[in-house]
Amino acid sequence: MYTVFFIGTAGSGKSTLVAALSTWMEEQGFDVGVVNLDPAAEYLPYVPDIDIRDRVSARKVMKQYKLGPNASIIAAVDMVVTEAERIKEEMEVVGAPIYLIDTPGQMELFAFRQSGAYLVQKLSDTHSLVVYVADAVYIQTIDGFATTMLLALSSRIRFKKPQILAVNKADLLTEEAIVNITNWSEDPETLLESIDLPSYEKEILRSVANMGGFVEPIFVSAKTGDGLDKLYYQLQIHYTGGEDAQ
Ligand code: GTP
Repeated sequence: MYTVFFIGTAGSGKSTLVAALSTWMEEQGFDVGVVNLDPAAEYLPYVPDIDIRDRVSARKVMKQYKLGPNASIIAAVDMVVTEAERIKEEMEVVGAPIYLIDTPGQMELFAFRQSGAYLVQKLSDTHSLVVYVADAVYIQTIDGFATTMLLALSSRIRFKKPQILAVNKADLLTEEAIVNITNWSEDPETLLESIDLPSYEKEILRSVANMGGFVEPIFVSAKTGDGLDKLYYQLQIHYTGGEDAQ
């Protein structure tokens, strides 16, 4: 079983991308399962095979414990941990060879709390991968690119899994923006020359970039479907070195 986790900041398009990629894979004749791990999702653009909301709902937690919106999501995500074993069993029963796993909307609640790392560990089988979903509109600015790379690095440190960077909503980027983002990742000096930062912070960023912290993104659009084939190809590479995952 191959599990692929979609992590990213709120609104970056994780759910839409999971919907688009799973549909694309089905159209190609691949057997794929979809898991929703977001107990606070109000609407999902796909029909999940396994939905955590059947067991834990942030809305119910909010009412039952009289919590505010953020506290109820935190409590609900922590409760999801107690369901991890059953989710894993359900995944085995459904029996898909590859699962796309949609994670809670606000990345920090999942990535920077103990429960998120535990869930990723628990639901990972023989092969697993994290797809860090970045928002194209945000990453096209110099500061946006630098901070996205640092956040994606934090996610790598947190989950200790192989990770790829998908820039979603590429339909909103101009050709020039795509060239800029590609240049910054391939040659970080082009970014470091232009970024407005005190010298100490710039040197820290330079060290991160020189250590390979600026990874090359895959441009995708969950809306138009552009780049989904490239994203799937990367998934395959991480699974078998290129052969289909099933
Ligand atoms: P939360 O879980 O609610 O934080 O969000 P998410 O990361 O799952 O994002 P979601 O899929 O809900 O998408 C957020 C918004 O971005 C929605 O309005 C989507 O229609 C829009 N969106 C998602 N993907 C794309 C894309 O490729 N292009 C464009 N233009 N819009 C997109």
